[in-house]
Amino acid sequence: MKITAILGSPRKKGVTSEIAKGFLTRAKTNGADITSYFLNTMDFKGCQGCHLCKTQQESCVLTDDLTPALGDLVSSDIMVFASPIYFWEVTGQFKCFFDRTWSLVKPDYMTNPHPVRMDMGKKAVWISSQGDTQEKYKEVVDKYVGFLAMFGAKTHTIRAFGMGNELGQDIAPFMAQAEKIADQLTK
Ligand SMILES: Cc1cc2nc3c(=O)[nH]c(=O)nc-3n(C[C@H](O)[C@H](O)[C@H](O)COP(=O)(O)O)c2cc1C
Repeated sequence: MKITAILGSPRKKGVTSEIAKGFLTRAKTNGADITSYFLNTMDFKGCQGCHLCKTQQESCVLTDDLTPALGDLVSSDIMVFASPIYFWEVTGQFKCFFDRTWSLVKPDYMTNPHPVRMDMGKKAVWISSQGDTQEKYKEVVDKYVGFLAMFGAKTHTIRAFGMGNELGQDIAPFMAQAEKIADQLTK
């Protein structure tokens, strides 16, 4: 089973990355083959809006560090996406990445029952972390879960809330949730 993880926090040892590590470590123990991309140290551009992926070719015209990441998402069984909430949204790094997934969408996506250039029926895992309470920013996660539904994926979500800059004991329930979902998906 192949898993591709897109890590969108700039902090390699922050809350979001730690929870993602909890999921991926458990999945690896269960035998999954893991590839991770830490966006903050990668060299890539956001979508240029050229639409050549709709009119001339079936992939993004840009060639940069996201090129293999997009390819790995297409060939993976489980896609993991992780970002903290920054100003009521995902991080800029993650948004830049996500815009590039536009190249995976077919030109006739509005009417095509198979609207994307990847197999339907993949599993996805969404990991987010925020300082505020649980009630806040659910709509941000729901929005991305909706986009992933267009990609044919069913998404499991882990939303860590009340998280500060330091890693503390309060991360424990979210780590446990990540490990539980890893067992559900990879055992
Ligand atoms: C630039 C910036 C903007 C942030 N904006 C929000 C926000 O809008 N809402 C919120 O609840 N937390 C916000 N936070 C707090 C982070 O989401 C929170 O501390 C998160 O756990 C950090 O994840 P990390 O450890 O993976 O970096 C912000 C933090 C930063 C650095």
